[in-house]
Amino acid sequence: MNTYRHLEIHPIAGALGAEIRGVDLSRPLPDEQFEEVRSALHEHLVIFFRDQNLTPRQHVEFSSRFGELLEVPFVRALDGFPTILPVMKGKAEKTRRNFGGLWHSDMSYSEKPPLGSALYGRVIPPYGGDTMWANMYRAYETLSDRLKQVLDGLGAVHSAVRSYGAGGAVVNNGDPAHKMDVRTDERASSEVVHPVVRVHPATGRKALYVNSTYTLRFDGMTQEESEPLLQFLYQHAARPEFTCRFRWSPGSLAVWDNRCTQHLAMNDYDGFDRELHRTTISGDRPVPASRTLQ
Ligand code: SIN
Repeated sequence: MNTYRHLEIHPIAGALGAEIRGVDLSRPLPDEQFEEVRSALHEHLVIFFRDQNLTPRQHVEFSSRFGELLEVPFVRALDGFPTILPVMKGKAEKTRRNFGGLWHSDMSYSEKPPLGSALYGRVIPPYGGDTMWANMYRAYETLSDRLKQVLDGLGAVHSAVRSYGAGGAVVNNGDPAHKMDVRTDERASSEVVHPVVRVHPATGRKALYVNSTYTLRFDGMTQEESEPLLQFLYQHAARPEFTCRFRWSPGSLAVWDNRCTQHLAMNDYDGFDRELHRTTISGDRPVPASRTLQ
């Protein structure tokens, strides 16, 4: 465990996740304190701040200290804030799939997937609607050495098509029965190859980087050939002891590292409203574990 001079850190699970107390994010943090927040993110992979009172502008200002913020394709942004993605489900909605409802790393379908995301709770159901995260360093490190060697040399094809392609799982094309406005366009079907195992640029650790939302197949293999091993990896990555689970309250902020985690939004609160605002922090092209993969 790192030592922190400017923060109070309380881990919430053995695998990942820590709550940071005694910080007011509505005001700019001094640089030394912010650098400790960044260290805590690298150490705990997802960090939580409770009881914050943030305007959309303050949310943008805090999260942009981690890097430039992205405008997310397919989903209508908050009015006046192109880099805030409102994650919403209304009490009358019964979706077959909620937004973020399968394990994923945000926007892994991009050439340069985001470094991280910062999600701020505004309207929270009285029960349900928790978010879970899983530690992808641990998912990789607990594989056998032989399988690690195989995966180190593989790439995987990622795409937004199953979520945002025509008839995609979360597309509603502005249907007023849905609070979120999620539309498909031609970008949904483009494909990108990323290493199956990526090296984290800050920690140097290897993390598994395939997910059941956006990964289609291994590069150079058919979907049928890829599916058995991918399904094993998805199940392995979601083992309960690799996860943490966060109970939201209004004013909670979660910041996570998309390079070494996956997350999932629980869809267990029919009959209640839920609204959170997400900013998404730009990242780099994933670095492969094997030099033969570029
Ligand atoms: C997301 O996947 O960005 C949303 C997570 C959540 O709603 O809990």
